Amino acid sequence: MKNPFKFGTIVEGEYFTDRTEELESIKQLLNSDNHLILISPRRFGKSSLVKRAVTQVARPCISLNLQMVVSVEGLAAMILKEVFKLHPWEKLKHLLSSFRVVPTISTTPSGEAIDITFQATTDATVLIEDALQLVEKVSEKGESMVVVFDEFQELMGLDKGIDKRLRAIIQNQRHVNYIFLGSQESMMTEIFERKRSPFYRFGVLMHLDRIPHSNFSQYISERLSDNFVSKVNVVEQILATTRCHPYYTQQLAALVWDMLTYKKMNEAEVVDQAITTLVRTHDFDFERIWLNFNKTDRSILMGLVNSVQLANNRRLPTSTMYSSVKRLMQSGYVIKLDTFEIEDPFFARWIRQRQG
Ligand SMILES: Nc1ncnc2c1ncn2[C@@H]1O[C@H](COP(=O)(O)OP(=O)(O)OP(=O)(O)O)[C@@H](O)[C@H]1O
Ligand SMILES: [Mg+2]
Repeated sequence: MKNPFKFGTIVEGEYFTDRTEELESIKQLLNSDNHLILISPRRFGKSSLVKRAVTQVARPCISLNLQMVVSVEGLAAMILKEVFKLHPWEKLKHLLSSFRVVPTISTTPSGEAIDITFQATTDATVLIEDALQLVEKVSEKGESMVVVFDEFQELMGLDKGIDKRLRAIIQNQRHVNYIFLGSQESMMTEIFERKRSPFYRFGVLMHLDRIPHSNFSQYISERLSDNFVSKVNVVEQILATTRCHPYYTQQLAALVWDMLTYKKMNEAEVVDQAITTLVRTHDFDFERIWLNFNKTDRSILMGLVNSVQLANNRRLPTSTMYSSVKRLMQSGYVIKLDTFEIEDPFFARWIRQRQG
């Protein structure tokens, strides 16, 4: 029997749940000339949602993770590499001749492009221009492409003024939809909502929330055997712990399923046991992370664990507190949905246990 829960990578098919409205909106958007900005904390399901929408409208898509790029030249090479995954480079060879800096492409014996380099150039913008122009040309001739920039806020670190130049290229294109994904809410808002930013209101802005409780409880319930008499309690305990966070819910549910199915564990204890196991598994990492926090960070995290909202944390000066929260949010340890909360429910549990 296969574990019916999946976590970590993109979920499709029977592993994917909810997001009906979001899916419709994205599909409609892909049928227009507009672009999408999709923001949520890490592992809320951005990539899975976009993949599903793109698949359902049957559009070719390339995905560029800006966390994996360290230079403008690297981004241009990544774009080309992704395009060559969809169209063998031999077929596009003639289009490469118009490049101002012609790339050197090494291929596998079967003709797959594996490494792309450019000769040194003083202005790397032309590399991006030519690479995205190739995307536009390919789109013009066939199915129009969708280009996904993942962790788009990382673009800013590549080169000064790169945002302005990228926008100048994209705004003249007519056959490509761009999707900008980001998990750093404040930086993404800065890029797309600040009036002076080149990307100000560049597309439709969408925030992805957790999966609604009613949907997730049904999803989990359907995947647990009807032989469990206290199934409802098990489901409720899982969701109370993870607060419907897509990734952590799937992770905890997967372990609970394993423990019920293979270890025949007692239903009344299984969720607690699974949580203990997950906390223990990450003990070493949690400890290392904790030791790297300063005292203000620790105080804030301990307050959040005990449901003390920031405004009620009287032990710290307000400005110190907010700069620390900002840092914790940028590094992803704290997220803000309705209120501020610790992103990882198992880390929160670890902190609570250590507090005694
Ligand atoms: N619609 C969904 N239905 C069920 N589970 C989901 C859904 N969306 C996300 N998940 C769970 O969350 C995990 C992360 O999803 P995904 O990788 O799509 O998120 P992401 O926001 O792109 O993450 P990252 O910030 O790491 O890029 C999935 O492996 C799955 O366990
Ligand atoms: Mg993703």
